[in-house]
Parts: sequence; structure tokens; C-alpha cells
Amino acid sequence: MTLERLEVQYEGPVARIWLNRPEVRNAFDGLMVTELRTTLFDMRTIDKVRVIVLGGRGAAFSAGADLGWMKAMAGFSREENLREAQALADLFFTVYESPKPVVARVHGAALGGGAGLVAACDIPVAALGTQFGFTEARLGILPAVISPYVVAKIGESAARELFLTGERFESVRACEIGLIRAAVPEEDLDQTVNRRVDELLKSGPRAIAEAKSLIREVAWRRVEDVQRYTVERIADIRVTEEAQEGMRAFLEKRKPNWVP
Ligand code: COA
Repeated sequence: MTLERLEVQYEGPVARIWLNRPEVRNAFDGLMVTELRTTLFDMRTIDKVRVIVLGGRGAAFSAGADLGWMKAMAGFSREENLREAQALADLFFTVYESPKPVVARVHGAALGGGAGLVAACDIPVAALGTQFGFTEARLGILPAVISPYVVAKIGESAARELFLTGERFESVRACEIGLIRAAVPEEDLDQTVNRRVDELLKSGPRAIAEAKSLIREVAWRRVEDVQRYTVERIADIRVTEEAQEGMRAFLEKRKPNWVP
């Protein structure tokens, strides 16, 4: 597929996806939504890709939904509106449930859907001074399809404040409320991202995918309700080839065969 809105680089086990519409601060329109979703979906079947890094070209990570595109929706039927909104929801879900871990490299600004994309990623790291905000209410709209990911990360208390005021905030606050995992000087951003990537490459690829499902399944549930599921998960995984290799490597004091 020829990509108009993205740039994709492969470096060994790492795929770097760059949102590439810098003239509008990587605001996403229908084409970008489709390209990003398809690219992430295709990566599931590319075995050599173990970690995905998502970043933005130009001055900002992403200014969220293209407001020209959103505004034009007034001329569409309800069915068309639902279809476009569903496509956007599917994009965030594809990021969230990607079996390959997604590290977000965030700089400049991550606003509205851009901040939602950050929330859907596994390990977002941002440059100090990056502007975040759920600005939708200020535009008379809603952070609707991103809300499950955002509320899961920042909790109801911060969501009530930030969704209702639409105010902008910077990386240190984003880190305090759990939207991102680290806030570092811009010159250290790539090194910090690469360190996260290196740590991820030490974990078994199947174990990572299963850990993501595990978190989704147990979050916000009663222990009694998930105990059987957790028992089955460990019973199933420890007999797999990957787990046997991981434990054997530890006992033999060597690296497992998936570590580059
Ligand atoms: N949708 C469509 N166009 C957008 C956009 C968006 N979400 N965000 C920025 N742009 C466009 C601007 O209209 C401008 O276009 P122009 O060059 O034709 O005037 C261009 O991108 C550059 O934006 P500008 O504001 O001049 O850049 P900046 O670097 O000073 O600031 C932002 C960048 C992201 C901080 C600022 O553009 C912004 O606040 N955007 C709105 C983000 C927002 O609230 N998104 C929520 C969407 S749900």
C-alpha cells in the first residue's frame, strides 16, 4: 500500500510509524485513520516486527482529529457520521489491542484524539513542554471514542477536570496523572524511547501479547471473578516452547533466543 499520511521505517525488530501530515500538525482525517489502522493491522502478521514506535513528523505528535473533516460531518447523514466515528473508534482499538507493544514518542502537542492515541499506546514517553489537552468541549464536541482509554489511564477524577475544562497541560502533569510514563528533555527523547524498546525486546513476544490480554481482562474486575482465568493463563503459558526456552535460559545462565 502506498502511504500518503504515514511514513514507516523498519529497523530489525522495530517498526517506526510516523504520522506524516506536518502541515496540519498531524491532524487525522479519514485517510490517515485508514492508513494507520491498516498498517498496525498488517504488522500483526510481520513476525520480525516485535515493537512498534509511534511518533509524529514536524512540530507536533498530533493535533487530533482534523477539525475541517469533523466540521464537514454536518453535511453527512447520520449513517455516514456513525461510519466515520466507528472507523476512528476502530483505530484506537487497533492500537490498544495490538499484540506488538506500542511505544509512543510524543513531542510538541498531543491534543484531543492525539492525546487519545497516546492513551491507547502501551508506553507513551513525552518531551518536556509537550502540550496535552482534551480540548473537545471547548470546540463543542466530546472526547467520546477516546474516553475508555483515557479514563482507564487517568481515572475519573482527572477526567472530570480535564474533559470539562478542556484546559491544556504539559508533560509533567501528564506523567503525574498517568497519561504518559515519562517526561524527559526533548534532546533525550529518542534515547529514552530506545531504552524502552530495548527493555521490551528482552521479553518473550508471546508473553507480551498475553500480558496485554491479561491486563485487559483483569482491570477493574473482582479477584474472585478473574481467578479461574488467571489460573488458566499461567497453566497454559508455562508449557509453551517460548516459556520453556525462557526458563531454561535463566537456569543455564544465558539469554533466551528471542533477545537480539
Ligand atoms: N485540525 C485541522 N487543522 C489543524 C488542526 C486540527 N486539529 N490543528 C492544527 N491545524 C492546522 C491549523 O489550522 C494551521 O493551518 P494553517 O497553516 O492553514 O493556518 C496549521 O495546522 C498549523 O497550526 P498552528 O496552530 O499555526 O500551529 P502551532 O504549531 O502554532 O500550534 C497546535 C499547533 C497543535 C498547538 C495548534 O494547532 C492547536 O491547538 N490545534 C488545535 C488542536 C485541537 O484542539 N485538537 C482537538 C481536535 S478534537
